[in-house]
Amino acid sequence: MGLFSRSDEFFGLDIGSTTLKLVQLKASSGKPLLVTYGTASIPIGLSQSDSDIDIRRLSEVIRQLVKGTRATTKNVSTALPENQVFTLVLPFPQMSPADLKKAVQWQVQQNLPMNIEDVRYDWQVISVPKNANEQVQVMITAAPIERVRRINRIIAEAGLNLVGLETTNIALSRSLATFPGAKILIVDIGAMSTELAIVENHIVLHSRSISFGGEAFTRAISNTLGLDLAQADQFKCKFGVTLEKLEGRVYKAIKPILATIVDEIIKSMQFFENQFGSRVDLFIISGGSAKMPEIGTFFAKTFNMDVQIANPWKNIAYPVSVQEDIINNAPDYSTVIGLALREVK
Ligand SMILES: Nc1ncnc2c1ncn2[C@@H]1O[C@H](COP(=O)(O)OP(=O)(O)OP(=O)(O)O)[C@@H](O)[C@H]1O
Ligand SMILES: [Mg+2]
Repeated sequence: MGLFSRSDEFFGLDIGSTTLKLVQLKASSGKPLLVTYGTASIPIGLSQSDSDIDIRRLSEVIRQLVKGTRATTKNVSTALPENQVFTLVLPFPQMSPADLKKAVQWQVQQNLPMNIEDVRYDWQVISVPKNANEQVQVMITAAPIERVRRINRIIAEAGLNLVGLETTNIALSRSLATFPGAKILIVDIGAMSTELAIVENHIVLHSRSISFGGEAFTRAISNTLGLDLAQADQFKCKFGVTLEKLEGRVYKAIKPILATIVDEIIKSMQFFENQFGSRVDLFIISGGSAKMPEIGTFFAKTFNMDVQIANPWKNIAYPVSVQEDIINNAPDYSTVIGLALREVK
């Protein structure tokens, strides 16, 4: 489900709030092959800013990243963060595809806080009814046209063509939901936001966005332990959620933030259970903050569930020379690999 159409050759570009990630893949008879990849750091705030000067600065960083990675195309597939998208799942009676299309359009008009002319929307049936009376569940994704135009402008100013635009959770589901039939909870903890998605067979059944991420951990450590932000960041990356190190002081500092994430996950799981009548089978943590020591153990203990740290490279073929970098930073690339995989599926 994309908000735009597809094209032959392109690379994925994840415009995060602290890091841009680029991955280009090539289809092959076996696993998709890595053509090139790279990252670029950006100051916090730049990727969300609407000022002309910031848009030009961001475009320039993208231009340099493309040049540095020697991507072989100018076609880009990117994602809108969940906080810029409206997602809703609604039940509809069974009807013909043409009638369903009209019914969805009507519901978009009723449910979105904007005029239909001001949004770009897409929809997908996400449940197959078991009998004639059962309703079909439809997920509707809508983005304000002004957000789509802004992304178009950033990409155009970088000298590139936007050929694919989808939501972060759809990209995540493509790279991480690789267990047929399993209902997977994906929690992507970035720097400034945390995205939750429950997916099955690459279809996003539920999504939720929390407006903080790893930066909030750093600030909490800085405030509680009286460290500057750079030191606090080092403590976070070194000690993470371990109780044994420093008498668990780093863990105690970030505990209230983790507790909020846990509450949101519980809400999502309960909502999902009520709507779909089934439970989550597997829990995958993704994003840069998934590299925090012991975070997997923390969630596994809290939810008494099987918890995995995301490895979106699992089904990609790459040269041994980049293996160490890729494995050490695997969860950073979940969104961008999902974007890049769209082409080769
Ligand atoms: N080893 C580590 N331990 C803990 N946190 C880490 C580690 N490495 C990176 N991080 C944190 O991961 C975050 C960056 O992750 P990521 O690249 O997924 O974010 P982003 O995509 O730029 O942001 P967002 O998705 O919120 O827009 C930062 O907060 C960073 O401090
Ligand atoms: Mg991100």
